[in-house]
Amino acid sequence: MRTQVVIIGAGPAGLLLGQLLHKHSIANVILERQTADHVLGRVRAGVIEQVTMNLLDEAGVGARMHADGLVHEGVQICVDGTRHRLSFKELTGKTVMVYGQTEITKDLMDGRAAVGAPSVYSAQDVSAHDISGDKPRVSYQVEGNTHEISCDFVAGCDGFHGISRKSIPESAIDTYERVYPLGWLGVLSDTPPVSEELIYVRHPRGFALCSMRTPTRSRYYIQCSLAEDIESWPDERFWQELKPRLDEEARERLVTGPSIEKSIAPLRSFVAEPMRFGRLFLAGDAAHIVPPTGAKGLNLAASDVRYLARALVEHYQERSDAGLDHYSERALARVWKAERFSWWMTTTLHKISDNPFDYRLQLAELDYLFRSKAAATAFAENYVGLPY
Ligand code: FAD
Ligand code: PHB
Repeated sequence: MRTQVVIIGAGPAGLLLGQLLHKHSIANVILERQTADHVLGRVRAGVIEQVTMNLLDEAGVGARMHADGLVHEGVQICVDGTRHRLSFKELTGKTVMVYGQTEITKDLMDGRAAVGAPSVYSAQDVSAHDISGDKPRVSYQVEGNTHEISCDFVAGCDGFHGISRKSIPESAIDTYERVYPLGWLGVLSDTPPVSEELIYVRHPRGFALCSMRTPTRSRYYIQCSLAEDIESWPDERFWQELKPRLDEEARERLVTGPSIEKSIAPLRSFVAEPMRFGRLFLAGDAAHIVPPTGAKGLNLAASDVRYLARALVEHYQERSDAGLDHYSERALARVWKAERFSWWMTTTLHKISDNPFDYRLQLAELDYLFRSKAAATAFAENYVGLPY
């Protein structure tokens, strides 16, 4: 079998790339290790930037997002029981959209099915060969049978634990990493959100986040230790730990209920560069990870894909490799700024040490954020997403 681009991974990065390439008549095959249902079941991101919305529109899959997504003009930050509001709309003229990653994934999968582009789910032992030469190949197994696809390019969109980044010789890639000694325990529940806007919470007991998916479905997170076992967090214990971290009004308005999903996510900052080796291009979590505090992971996956899709279109339609040659540099310029912002949000809002000096610095950062229009504007600019 032969195609132009083999895409490894059917997360948001892989599916979006596939859709954009298809629009430009570039043949592509997606190989995904899991089943489609498994991919659809992963509850993750909730906030998308304007530029990501525009890209989903460009890919032709934005209709449901515009109908069902919630436009947010600002965000609230609660510091030790007192809530403050920052208006993105006033500070930057821009807004963000609350629309779940599960919904985006569904829209992209439906879009792909509608155009009949090929995807192979439950593909085992996916491996890329000859990526440093002109004729790369990707092999995989389905039900014990080995298949091979020859192609022009391989797009590694297989997330942090995928095989793409690991196919690059160690000497050809540099990695930068910070692992935080904490995690997020998240709960999804069919209860009305505590507020119309997201509330990021800094509290001596630890960080919390009140988010949502729809007017009747809430998403809450609390900072937890990495050693926590999910089994020791029955719903009741989760609500009991969330409540004292909130301000009085939120505590009173909080509607609790049974969880429909519960998971623990570790917090990590990670960048691999360059994001290219020969004919293999990395995009999304395969190349970089941000802690979820800045809501940047999915948005960065989308911006990588935008650069990569444009570069591939340039290659096939204009016979120019300038975009491919600059892909890594362009993508990383945006990635590092999102790494900085996500690190800043994380270290400013979590309980990261027992040293009172760190706590006083956090208070100073936040006081400056609420009092200075310049600081608030810088925050808002980053939260709504920096321009491409
Ligand atoms: P993934 O979604 O990880 O997709 C990779 C795909 O590749 C998967 O389907 C995987 O099964 C497949 N794969 C892996 N290995 C192989 C293999 N060997 N062969 C074939 N396929 C393979 N981001 C935001 O922007 N906003 C948020 O609000 C936000 N909140 C988050 C909250 C939490 C709790 C978490 C954990 C993440 C959050 N993120 C958020 C981050 C966001 O979910 C990720 O950045 C995003 O999923 C990255 O997309 P991706 O396609 O690059 O990778
Ligand atoms: C979410 O709704 O899941 C969410 C929102 C904002 C974040 C992280 C996660 O920063």
